[in-house]
Amino acid sequence: RIAGPCSIVIFGVTGDLSRKKLLPAIYDLANRGLLPPSFGLTGFGRRDWSEEEFRDFVKTNVKAHCRTQFDEMTWQQLAKGIRFVRGTFEDEDAFDRLSTTVAELDRDRGTRGNHAFYMSVPPRDFPIVARQLARCGLAHSTEGAWRRVIIEKPFGHDLESAKKLDKLVSEVFDPQSVFRIDHYLGKETVQNILALRFANSMYEPIWNNNYVDHVQITMAEDIGVAGRAGYYDGIGAARDVIQNHLLQLLALTAMEEPISFAAADLTAEKTKVLSAVRLPKDLAAHTARGQYAAGWQGSEEVCGYLEEKGIDPNSTTETYAAIRLDIDTRRWAGVPFYLRTGKRLGRRVTEVAVVFKPAPHLPFESTATQELGKNAIVIRIQPDEGVTIRFGSKVPGGSSMEVRDVSMDFSYGRSFTESSPEAYERLILDVLLGDPPLFPTTEEVNLSWKILDPIEDFWSTLGQPQPYRAGTWGPEEADEMLARDGRRWRMP
Ligand code: BG6
Repeated sequence: RIAGPCSIVIFGVTGDLSRKKLLPAIYDLANRGLLPPSFGLTGFGRRDWSEEEFRDFVKTNVKAHCRTQFDEMTWQQLAKGIRFVRGTFEDEDAFDRLSTTVAELDRDRGTRGNHAFYMSVPPRDFPIVARQLARCGLAHSTEGAWRRVIIEKPFGHDLESAKKLDKLVSEVFDPQSVFRIDHYLGKETVQNILALRFANSMYEPIWNNNYVDHVQITMAEDIGVAGRAGYYDGIGAARDVIQNHLLQLLALTAMEEPISFAAADLTAEKTKVLSAVRLPKDLAAHTARGQYAAGWQGSEEVCGYLEEKGIDPNSTTETYAAIRLDIDTRRWAGVPFYLRTGKRLGRRVTEVAVVFKPAPHLPFESTATQELGKNAIVIRIQPDEGVTIRFGSKVPGGSSMEVRDVSMDFSYGRSFTESSPEAYERLILDVLLGDPPLFPTTEEVNLSWKILDPIEDFWSTLGQPQPYRAGTWGPEEADEMLARDGRRWRMP
């Protein structure tokens, strides 16, 4: 799977995402030989840069963040196709210059009219960029050549704004040329949820309410808002990651087997399960919010959210969110899905833990099994990628039947010699190949907002989120939320 002749234009090219993820991913794709030698890369930005200065900027960031070994030959080849267009999003002349640049790439580099436009811009700038592209004739595919647009999240901030955004998108671009990025779907370990469930026969028979007690989906981060105050404040943890990454994880974990892995078949199953999600009636009892206060992250003393640069000192934005969801299907009736995410938590870890019901009968003395927890299959999304199965085992020696929890581990690092590409590498390549299965559809996005909106509305009536010390596992409210159901959060 190697991309054919084409180019990519990045709006918001000097931003965090572009510097740390997009530019390095493009370089890594080139280094792995997955981009055509004629590939074009155009940055659009306000900086007063010459093309040479922009190339230096790209090179510096590629060198700092690429995953493959930096190779000067690959760089020289890629650099030949790098262009920079200076301007603001309001500037019509700048978009005309972009149009000329793209045409020159076609002529000089043979990109053949195939161009992808990456919107790494805040949602407020999206409409103007889209209209400018339409005005200068760059938005639509032409005979024998494609145009594609890549939209970064957030897709709106609630259902209504998402629908508005979608209306605008569909007015400007052909629906099949729009690729919405949820970078979690580009992660190998996330795609592996489908392999684990549907390429094996031993999990599916127990993957239901006969055996599963509950599911915990955790995305914990040790970083704070890390220079993204402008974006994060007012958005918060739930809109930032539950609406997209965590609900996608829930959909992949809970959906029925798709008839194929084609985009339409995958979407059909994800949509079905997202439509069946039911919110708790008592949101106060089954959701929790928190905001990090000063504390220690390992050996580093860190400030609280309200003291972070660029954050409103009275902000009520949550940096931790936990919610309980139920799924009204025969498979999942009675099995709660607990989702939690937070910044400045104990450590960086994302996992899906399917926790099983206790054995119906234990033929051992109860004192001998005190330490026995519940069986679990834990899909370790990151950073220690793999799968763990937790189960009870007899402690060797002694005359009593003492049973203790043990783990059986699969680890990517030990089992595969192949390295995992970065999520953005996979997704950018898929866009260039026009391969849509890993991109959420409008319907999935809207269903996710439909789930989150009532929770956000409820939270907006509350005051300050409960503080939690940086470096801990979140607010007490979250523990109480699970304790009410007679359960506990796993300690990853
Ligand atoms: C982004 C969120 O989508 O995902 C960030 O906006 C978060 O707040 C990031 O830090 C985490 O991504 P990853 O791949 O490091 O888990």
